Amino acid sequence: MKVGVVGAGLVGATAAYALTLRGSCSDLVLTDKDEPRAQAEAQDIAHAAPVSHGTRVTSGPLEALSGSAVVIVAAGANQQPGESRLDLTGRNAAIFRDLIPGVAAQAPGAVLLIATNPVDALTDLATRLAPEHAVLGSGTVLDSARFRHLIARRAGVDPTHVHGYVLGEHGDSEVLAWSTVTVAGLPVEDFMAARGLPWTPEIRAEIETGTRDAAAHIIGGKRATYYGIGASLARIAERILGDRRAVLTVSAPTPEFGVSLSLPRIVGSGGIEGTVMPRLTPEEQQALEASAGVLRQASEGLEN
Ligand code: LAC
Repeated sequence: MKVGVVGAGLVGATAAYALTLRGSCSDLVLTDKDEPRAQAEAQDIAHAAPVSHGTRVTSGPLEALSGSAVVIVAAGANQQPGESRLDLTGRNAAIFRDLIPGVAAQAPGAVLLIATNPVDALTDLATRLAPEHAVLGSGTVLDSARFRHLIARRAGVDPTHVHGYVLGEHGDSEVLAWSTVTVAGLPVEDFMAARGLPWTPEIRAEIETGTRDAAAHIIGGKRATYYGIGASLARIAERILGDRRAVLTVSAPTPEFGVSLSLPRIVGSGGIEGTVMPRLTPEEQQALEASAGVLRQASEGLEN
């Protein structure tokens, strides 16, 4: 199976590297308007193939996307210190209006996996620019991973055994749905009590802050995030390639909210096979509706 990556910057190249190390696909092609950059990243990643799973890694023009089952779109500007993801909307929407029709034309039948921020608004826009394609965004898969990582550290367990979701915007209005969090099948507060571990409002607040502010903190220290998002993109792409029906909080147009946002979705070869609306507390539901409002405002007039 072939995966295309549009945008050979830090996020796209790291996603390609993650796919190579994980042996997610047989063929990977990187494309970027900066052709020497795409070629160099592909060459560097190709040198990992002989010591991992033998993935064929190449670069080329948009035409090289032909035959891709999944195309990851990571092209565009990324947040600078002090910038919000929504601050990137105008610049990256202009890039998408120019880029997405060509990507769609060169990769008929591919699932388009949007990574560029603001990912929800750009998933909405890409859906309209590529109406024949299945389109989904990385959404809050990374935020849910951050949330689970911080809970797991407090619970003293493997983070892959902590379940819970961040919903709504991949951004400042995201909703940390504590009511969805379970550890060993127990609500998190019951697990912590059963294990005799501290669980206070201050600890919850620390986890919330650590989840929400992760990107800003990392960008402040090294100017970009790419390992967490790169691995998240690889996981989503793998679940599509393998038709795994994984439950992931990816972003997609959601009629109930009139905009693309993240909810638990069943992800398989056709992209999103279904959406599961969690049973939220009234406060969480209200926060999700507020997040949708932020996104509707951000998405207004984008295709013009
Ligand atoms: C982050 C970027 C991918 O949250 O938005 O790290």
